[in-house]
Amino acid sequence: MSYQQIYRQSIDQPEEFWRDKARALPWYKFPQTILGKDGNGIDRWFVDGEMNTAYMALDHHVENGRADQLALIYDSPVTDTKKRFTYRELRDQVARMAGMIGAQGVSKGDRVIIYMPMIPEAVIAMLACARIGAIHSVVFGGFAANELAVRIDDAEPRLVLSASCGIEIGRVVAYKPLLDEAVEIAEFKPQTCIILQRPQAEASIIEGRDKDWYDTLAKAEPTGCVLVNAADPLYILYTSGTTGKPKGVVRDNGGHAVVMSYSMNAMYGIHPGEVFWAASDVGWVVGHSYIVYAPLLYGCTTILYEGKPIMTPDAGAFWRVASEYEARAIFAAPTAFRAIKKVDPDGRFVSKYDIGCIRTIFMAGERLDPPTYEWATEKIGKPVVDHWWQTETGWVIAGNLQGIEKMTMKPGSATMPTPGFDIHILGEDGGVLAANEHGYITLKLPMPPGCLPTIWGDHPRFIEGYLRRFPGYYVSGDGGYVDDDGYVFVMGRIDDVINVAGHRLSTGEMEEIVGKHSAVAECAVFGVPDELKGEVPLGLALLKDGVDIDSDALGEELKQLVRSEIGPIACYDRTLIVKRLPKTRSGKILRRVLRQIAAGEEYTVPSTIDDPASLDEIEETLKEAGILS
Ligand code: COA
Ligand code: AMP
Repeated sequence: MSYQQIYRQSIDQPEEFWRDKARALPWYKFPQTILGKDGNGIDRWFVDGEMNTAYMALDHHVENGRADQLALIYDSPVTDTKKRFTYRELRDQVARMAGMIGAQGVSKGDRVIIYMPMIPEAVIAMLACARIGAIHSVVFGGFAANELAVRIDDAEPRLVLSASCGIEIGRVVAYKPLLDEAVEIAEFKPQTCIILQRPQAEASIIEGRDKDWYDTLAKAEPTGCVLVNAADPLYILYTSGTTGKPKGVVRDNGGHAVVMSYSMNAMYGIHPGEVFWAASDVGWVVGHSYIVYAPLLYGCTTILYEGKPIMTPDAGAFWRVASEYEARAIFAAPTAFRAIKKVDPDGRFVSKYDIGCIRTIFMAGERLDPPTYEWATEKIGKPVVDHWWQTETGWVIAGNLQGIEKMTMKPGSATMPTPGFDIHILGEDGGVLAANEHGYITLKLPMPPGCLPTIWGDHPRFIEGYLRRFPGYYVSGDGGYVDDDGYVFVMGRIDDVINVAGHRLSTGEMEEIVGKHSAVAECAVFGVPDELKGEVPLGLALLKDGVDIDSDALGEELKQLVRSEIGPIACYDRTLIVKRLPKTRSGKILRRVLRQIAAGEEYTVPSTIDDPASLDEIEETLKEAGILS
């Protein structure tokens, strides 16, 4: 069938479509109700299905001929370590770790925070939670203690799993002091923390609360899979919203398993038994979906890579790993390829390895700019596929669906909507816009399986943030258009969220931090284009009357403040002092216009502006700072 036929079927007959896809999985009890509503009136898939995600991802394969096939390959250039796990070995280790977690009093529905680097135990811990029906919440290692504390307070975990350190280029990041500080700051105090001691750093142990990973594991008995309902949560993953408080995206078990399995072939053109490599981090949604769950649910081998695209040890890292393990696909953020391009513009490292195994390069996480697309296509010599998705959906919303129909690429476009996603571009008044008109990218309800049904502990925020603005539609937060051929162009966020090196961050949160500084009366933080990271935050600060501070000194203090509250990944490096900020007559800072000016884009002076001359001043300041030419 053609893409168009499959897509139409998914929109016109969603229940038949997804019932059919659900059959690919080994349910304990196949769902009778394919699409229903929950108590909040939200669409839910497969609600009466009974299952266990870890059973589907591991035990089922062990019982059906994949016991000796590799499930997980760990490759860590930063520690010079390589390990391989067959499906049987991974199942056994997950079963024992599930026993260890259960022995801490964790049971179905309890939360477990996993604050760990890219080591196999992180993956094993996630699957072990799934095995006993506990809800995991993985926190990315680049976050500071405060961010971890916010997540602890929101998720209220019965248990925290962590390690002594992560390893960045040329430095060891000690996790334990960050964990201790987070528990100190948090109001909710986890009873138990289990700490994995890595040889690169020794963590101090707090008696009565902390336990040693290996000692505790050694005493644990393997445990079986607990039956869960399809609508029960599998995990909570926090993502940046427009305020300082991150949103706990809830993922269910059933819908998630179905779309993970379906997408492996539909989107990525992968077959069971093949090796798939998502060069992301388990702290992000890409890591959850395509390092851990999807490849295993589909019977593939997945790669866990503890390294960077460059400097570990060189710009050939991606090609070395792909060729060594015969990966069929590499999936990474455009930033990773821009980093490689900067070091190896001629692609000399590509030719040092035999990458004949690779069929396709996939990119997502931020806009794939046409120059990076063209460089990668030419130098790697493989089809480069852009695809658009979000933490909220957990899988691709629009892409060039390699297992359905390979379509002509249009640089700058994520190609066509994925089956199940009914994309509409809406204008300010909620009307559907014509082809090529820019507007809000929305998804007509119901969304397909896998997408979030709520925000953890805050359903009103889910309604307010996504569903209230245009009744009947989910507002993605991205702006863009669909062209005459139906290609989707995602042009960027229309809210206070930015993407720095493929990491999603809230400028609103940064503003809250900058605004707390005793010298700052008012501030605006927004994204400015960056050659390597796509965009980076820039702060404009208006000082309090009478304050006399050197701009470099203030800039450094604010940099350190954001670093200590959000973490180094915020990449907040620069603040410019301004005399006034452009505002509407009602006092709202014109952030969008600021962003457009800094990007050198055309902009319309809003009729509601209070003082148009303030825009000229900003332009002047940006020119003096070398941000605008
Ligand atoms: N733990 C602790 N610190 C981390 C971290 C982690 N897991 N990940 C990043 N950091 C730190 C970095 O060490 C750096 O600290 P520094 O300011 O002290 O040098 C800071 O956060 C910024 O990191 P990053 O933006 O990643 O910049 P970088 O210069 O270290 O690396 C790239 C540049 C391009 C190599 C890197 O950004 C990259 O690999 N990007 C791909 C992104 C990606 O895969 N995203 C996943 C979404 S699909
Ligand atoms: P995250 O939730 O961290 O995955 O970030 C999701 C956001 O990243 C989206 O809302 C987009 O703004 C951006 N994004 C992800 N993939 C793409 C893409 N292929 N093209 C453009 N923007 C993208």
